[in-house]
Amino acid sequence: MNIAVRPLREHDLGEADRIFRVAFGTFIGMPDPTTFAGDSDWIATRWRTDPSAAFAADVDGQLAGSVFATNWGSVGFFGPLTVRRDLWNRGVGRRLLEPVMECFTRWGTRHAGLYTFAESPKHVALYQRFGFYPRFLTAIMMKAAPGAAVDAATPDANADLRATRFSEVAADDQGHYLAAVRELTDEVFAGLDVSVDIRAVAAQRLGDTLLVWDDSELVGVAVCHAGAGTEAGSGACYVKFAAARPGADAGARFERVLDAVERYAGARSTSVALGINLGREDAYRRALARGYATAIQGVAMHRPNAHGFDHPDAYVVADWR
Ligand SMILES: CC(C)(COP(=O)(O)OP(=O)(O)OC[C@H]1O[C@@H](n2cnc3c(N)ncnc32)[C@H](O)[C@@H]1OP(=O)(O)O)[C@@H](O)C(=O)NCCC(=O)NCCS
Repeated sequence: MNIAVRPLREHDLGEADRIFRVAFGTFIGMPDPTTFAGDSDWIATRWRTDPSAAFAADVDGQLAGSVFATNWGSVGFFGPLTVRRDLWNRGVGRRLLEPVMECFTRWGTRHAGLYTFAESPKHVALYQRFGFYPRFLTAIMMKAAPGAAVDAATPDANADLRATRFSEVAADDQGHYLAAVRELTDEVFAGLDVSVDIRAVAAQRLGDTLLVWDDSELVGVAVCHAGAGTEAGSGACYVKFAAARPGADAGARFERVLDAVERYAGARSTSVALGINLGREDAYRRALARGYATAIQGVAMHRPNAHGFDHPDAYVVADWR
């Protein structure tokens, strides 16, 4: 079998999307695997976010799978990784991971991670081969449409909450706001920088990034996808990343970040989906207390085998899918 790995190109996106849905839909046993992930989009959006970190495998000249790596500064993760159903267990997945590891080397990634099926010995073994080690579970949690459409009813609700939407920031000021977020995430984990996703959400109109302030200090951030054609899908707001500034009041700040997310979702009458690693114990417990229920759970694998930002004092939403 001739496996060739190369950059994923725009004309591959339709077939890569089909392979992605059938692979996951089959693995989880859906009667019609092509409907996996509904009208959400994980392939074209990630390719547009960073085409230089999107890879394809061809087998005998036909597309056989794809994978996407993400550069969050000192942190890197990858996914979704999918291989055509008829080619599983023949080394394609392993080959696709090679350029991902090269990305991490090139980027100087200090802490790499992924989210996978905890119950699958195959998945855990595949990633262990590349130096990843399983740690705590990550819960993908959901909450039904949270309350009234506060933003619509109260135009100045955002002002009261001192939350800014990145989409409303003048182009000239965006660099300043990105720097403020970077300064916050650097406190969460040295060198953590999610600018690539904030920019992607803005450029591709995938949702919005909510910035929560205490006077002039940024105390929280939430990068949200919303609606069809994003990682959320219709009727949902998916928090791809959120964090509260660490410190004595971090728990209360985290509640404010979730308040802002729920207002944003409430204004659209959508549910909220978010992923919290159980190593972030208080953040997880607070989400439970607010009525979030675990819909799916997987395991986070880390390289090196260290907690990264999955520890009890980290008030972070991120699931690395
Ligand atoms: C997961 C997936 C990407 C792997 O791709 P693949 O091409 O089948 O994987 P590979 O053949 O390269 O590697 C599988 C490895 O697991 C090993 N393996 C298979 N079953 C195993 C088991 N029960 N226990 C331990 N190892 C196992 C294989 O031997 C192989 O290792 P080797 O190369 O050392 O022999 C593919 O199966 C897929 O698309 N699955 C559905 C979507 C998915 O789950 N994506 C990943 C989400 S994190």
